[in-house]
Amino acid sequence: MAKAKIYYQCTTCGRQEPRWLGMCPGCNAWNTLEEQLPRLENAKGRSNKRKAAKPIEAQAVRSSHAIRQKVGLTELDRVLGGGLVPGGVVLLGGEPGIGKSTLLLQVCAGLQHQGANSLYVSGEESPVQIRERAERIGCPLQGLHLLAETDADAIAATLGEGDYGVVVIDSIQTLRCADLPSAPGSVSQVREATSRLCDAAKRREMPLVIIGHVTKEGTLAGPRTLEHLVDTVLYFEADPGRSLRVVRAHKNRHGPVSEIGVFEMTGQGLAQIDNPSAAFLHDRPESTPGSVVFPLMRGSRPILVEVQALVSPSPSAQPRRTASGCDPNRIALLAAVLEKRAGLALAGCDLFLNVAGGLNLDEPAADLAICLAILSSQADRPVPKHTAVFGEVGLSGEVRAVPAAAARAAESARLGFQRLVLPAGNLEQAREGLGNEIRLQSLPSVADLAEATLEPKP
Ligand code: TYD
Ligand code: MG
Repeated sequence: MAKAKIYYQCTTCGRQEPRWLGMCPGCNAWNTLEEQLPRLENAKGRSNKRKAAKPIEAQAVRSSHAIRQKVGLTELDRVLGGGLVPGGVVLLGGEPGIGKSTLLLQVCAGLQHQGANSLYVSGEESPVQIRERAERIGCPLQGLHLLAETDADAIAATLGEGDYGVVVIDSIQTLRCADLPSAPGSVSQVREATSRLCDAAKRREMPLVIIGHVTKEGTLAGPRTLEHLVDTVLYFEADPGRSLRVVRAHKNRHGPVSEIGVFEMTGQGLAQIDNPSAAFLHDRPESTPGSVVFPLMRGSRPILVEVQALVSPSPSAQPRRTASGCDPNRIALLAAVLEKRAGLALAGCDLFLNVAGGLNLDEPAADLAICLAILSSQADRPVPKHTAVFGEVGLSGEVRAVPAAAARAAESARLGFQRLVLPAGNLEQAREGLGNEIRLQSLPSVADLAEATLEPKP
């Protein structure tokens, strides 16, 4: 048998190198290569005298749509694409303390309410701690099985014997495979443990949810390489300074990735927010220059968010264009369009843009709202109360139609907005299903935006 060699693997991207290097050639991260000892393969296992694997006919395969298991939390079910899939593996990433353990205990409770058993495997907390938390947040204890174990093979064996409606692993970074020499939390351990657990869950057709801690840099600790091993990757994120929590899909083999679920951390665990628009607009100052409300689409659902701009004279020769929650390049482009087409003088000004609530403006439909926020701040004239805005802006300043106008208009009307500024091309769709409670105002170009929309200066 050939002597297996030591190699070095990047803890971030998983790239393997025969030598140690300061910088990983795969992802350019520094000091991420770790020494890995090879696993000794059994010579017999490598023999090519294997029994042939047997394919099955597609018709005989059960469709996952029919057998989805709702977890009982509508916000999470929507993000999952309708519920958990038997044998489907979900990775839930998030920073420590965000509420991952709490959320998954509530998932267990949801399935127990439907009469299923659940298994909560924890390498971080003792059964006493988990039970106390379950009692505190009102999860039923009946049907909840706890296992304090960190050996991946022992857990896989447990899965092989049990029959659970859901299995939770808290967290993947604490698990280890005894036959691998590296430490728990290292790339090879995390990856191998995940793959063994996935096999076990798929064989028994049980849904498996794995918690993964996210590092400060925002990557799933160690390996992004875990993402291809699992069916669904969810991130659990916080709105800084608030108790709102957003869960969103980063990858989903069983559903869309655009949906989000909104929760709030309370004294009794996570509460679902059925009306996220109201929650995101909660602290909005009214009649303040630079603040604009925009109906954002998240999957099938519109959510009203506040876009804020601040334009101020710049002390430096190179004015700043800073954005949080949207692409700075888009801001620079829209600022240029405003200078050219709406006669705005931004050259000596710093420009800051912020999206309240920590959501991301990743659709062009936000352009008009961003432009209006900039105009409003620059002119120091507020946007009138109860006004919402959407539309795409082209390079010549023209306002273009966007998708989902009807849903955006309906959500604005529902939250009591009385005026909607939108592209002319969307007027007809927006009017569908709306009464007279909201006035629709269309604009051909950003050239007239300020005059048509902003309040006169007092
Ligand atoms: P936890 O689920 O332990 O987070 P994670 O598993 O992501 O590390 O929850 C962390 C925080 O949530 C903790 O600081 C306490 C708080 N919390 C509440 O405010 N209310 C509750 O009912 C629970 C269970 C936790
Ligand atoms: Mg936890």
